[in-house]
Amino acid sequence: MGESSATLHEDPAQIGEETIDRHRAIVSIMEELEAVDWYDQRVQATSNAELRAILAHNRDEEKEHACMVLEWLRRNDPKWHEQLSTYLFTSGDVTELEEDEQGGETGNGGNGKANGVRDRSLGIGSLRKG
Ligand SMILES: [Fe+2]
Repeated sequence: MGESSATLHEDPAQIGEETIDRHRAIVSIMEELEAVDWYDQRVQATSNAELRAILAHNRDEEKEHACMVLEWLRRNDPKWHEQLSTYLFTSGDVTELEEDEQGGETGNGGNGKANGVRDRSLGIGSLRKG
């Protein structure tokens, strides 16, 4: 098996293919975020302007990679969908979003139930067109 399955904590036969795929996605996101952090530090540290520009470009591409895999995880895990729907693209007090969610959890399907300000212009619908 591949590299990411080396970090499984349980017997793959007992976990099942869906959980193993989610594991692959989670490990990938972790790797992308670590790369973002490492590039970010190198961008700040180097005194060579040309190298800094390349490292910054690569750092920002890792953000794209992380988001693509996170979106896959959202589509393949209802709880990720619910939490991301609650917290992302909001403004104001983040802790109040949770209170709003708990207070208003009546059939909104984890979508748009918080009272926080939310920018839906790049929401799920437009992503699914692509
Ligand atoms: Fe990457």
